[in-house]
Amino acid sequence: MSNKSISALQAGEISELNRQMQNRIKNLDNQNDLRDAMMYSVMAGGKRIRPLIVFATCLSLNKSISPSTYVVAGSLEFIHTYSLIHDDLPEMDNDDLRRGKPTNHKIYGQAMAVLAGDALLTEAFRWLSEVQVSAQRGLMLVHKLSQAAGALGMVDGQARDIKGEDQQLNIEQLKILHAGKTGALIRYAFEAGGVLANATEKQQKLLSKLGLAYGLAFQIYDDILDVTSSEQEMGKAVHKDQSENKNTYPTLLGLEGAKESLSYTLDEAIGVLERMKDIGVETKLFEELLAYFRI
Ligand code: IPE
Ligand code: IPE
Ligand code: MG
Ligand code: MG
Ligand code: MG
Repeated sequence: MSNKSISALQAGEISELNRQMQNRIKNLDNQNDLRDAMMYSVMAGGKRIRPLIVFATCLSLNKSISPSTYVVAGSLEFIHTYSLIHDDLPEMDNDDLRRGKPTNHKIYGQAMAVLAGDALLTEAFRWLSEVQVSAQRGLMLVHKLSQAAGALGMVDGQARDIKGEDQQLNIEQLKILHAGKTGALIRYAFEAGGVLANATEKQQKLLSKLGLAYGLAFQIYDDILDVTSSEQEMGKAVHKDQSENKNTYPTLLGLEGAKESLSYTLDEAIGVLERMKDIGVETKLFEELLAYFRI
């Protein structure tokens, strides 16, 4: 059983992952601006929450970190980064600041920002195809990632988010939106960790439940911070959701209502952890990951 903490993972495995992501982009023999634009956003920083979840899930299921863990974590972070580059484009959320730096299109122009996103999305699957697991499990990872990232997952959520600017959604519709735009990739991080660790069916089901709750909590928290935090703390513009007419928990329920929903969602996640303990999952790292949400 590993005694690693999240901060030890950040200092060790995440630094190594950063090196690997940087090397993969550096070694691409492609057009210079395209490579620079990809590198710019991937190496701009970011909390690396999704890779941390992959690492934490493996360790929680008693599976040590291997080269394949990095493949899964890195390919996921490429897709997440592409989603941010596109999310910031003028026709989407129209943002100038991301990860404490000017957004990709502010530096490289809109065309190259679109292409850098396209390239990161595709490179993610090329990287994932190098995973050293059985062919069956490798295909399962590809299937799950494409489901989470695309027309049934993150992209669908983004489409609902954009269309929602013209209408007020109810909370059930907003939950579906959040489960897509943010929840899908986060849930995949838990599930993919489970696939790498050869999780039992029961364990895999609970990982999905935890992923769903964690993903929803993550977006509610992001929406709360948009109201309560500062540009400097966030490294991106704040107070944008209201002005862009976004459907969020604070805009639908008010700040207090959003905080209540967050705390209810976190209780759900803690309930899942209790059930995990009964079937041989070490929950310490998950508890640490839940401590991210401070209100
Ligand atoms: C931002 O994601 C977009 C949302 C899903 C809320 P993160 O908050 O994980 O952004 P980085 O990776 O740390 O920049
Ligand atoms: C973005 O949600 C989610 C994705 C990028 C898929 P937001 O639009 O709320 O994220 P921020 O606030 O710009 O990071
Ligand atoms: Mg958005
Ligand atoms: Mg945005
Ligand atoms: Mg936001």
